[in-house]
Amino acid sequence: MGRVFVAGSINMDVVATAERHPRIGETVAGEAVLYFPGGKGANQAVASAKLGVPTTLIGRLGTDAFGKELRTFLAAQGVDLSFVKDTDGTHSGTAIITLANADNTIVVVPGANGLVEADDVAAPVLARGDVAVSQFEIPLPAIAAFFRRARAVGATTILNPAPAKQADKALLDLVDILVLNETELGYLTGTELRDSDTPERFSEAARALGQGRIVCVTLGKRGVLALVDNQPLLVPGREVKAVDTTGAGDCFVGALASQLAIGKPLGDALAYANAAASICVQRMGAAPSMPTADEVEDALSPSRPGEGR
Ligand code: RIB
Ligand code: NA
Repeated sequence: MGRVFVAGSINMDVVATAERHPRIGETVAGEAVLYFPGGKGANQAVASAKLGVPTTLIGRLGTDAFGKELRTFLAAQGVDLSFVKDTDGTHSGTAIITLANADNTIVVVPGANGLVEADDVAAPVLARGDVAVSQFEIPLPAIAAFFRRARAVGATTILNPAPAKQADKALLDLVDILVLNETELGYLTGTELRDSDTPERFSEAARALGQGRIVCVTLGKRGVLALVDNQPLLVPGREVKAVDTTGAGDCFVGALASQLAIGKPLGDALAYANAAASICVQRMGAAPSMPTADEVEDALSPSRPGEGR
């Protein structure tokens, strides 16, 4: 059985809940301020570790109070933190989130995450069968170095290019599986895409990225569209009541990585990750809302009353 290695961001999510999002220049009264561990890298690592797969996180924290809290939380989730460095002279990554009607807006300030460098990813030893995962909240040269090392030993690489930014072809060439949402797909392909577009339109856009790799487009409630050898495979969304979608994409990525590391076929791993994400959206917070393997299996079991697949 392989391990999952995640090189990525670790943030404290400072969440203000309100009845609705303010418009530009407007002030609205909120309801609560909540502090949740988050950051795409940490969320993905927690998702994988909680599903019972050995998971190592590579990243940086500040030496502030949030850093200590995040480290304690991540260790309690079973994430191996041997390669998470404390860094002086900066703060831990912080995301300022407003949450209204289950939807969020996020301003993320990288702090220590912005200082992750190629040297940081040089220490962990990966092997064939492992899965290497990254996202766009740490500097791209570190991601490229990480994937190069993974590729050299025959590990599988998964890139979640979020939040969207321009990446050169050399980086994409190191990726076995791309997992992205509609916005990121539009950004990377230079296509105008909307939530309401048809799956056909998404697969057409994804084709441009699918040369020699698997592309998974997460479509929120509509499920996931995967392009394997340029053949579309749609995993339908699951009917659930969302309270907080923060980290749902990360849950999908971490769960997918964990299932591929234990040798599950892609189709099963996608359905599993889709079910995991549907649990995540029903709970508040990012990292704290990741499900256990029992919860995912329960959601997938056909005998479960009142929930269609
Ligand atoms: O993907 C969700 C995450 O994005 C949040 O946890 C927040 O920290 C931002 O990085
Ligand atoms: Na959640």
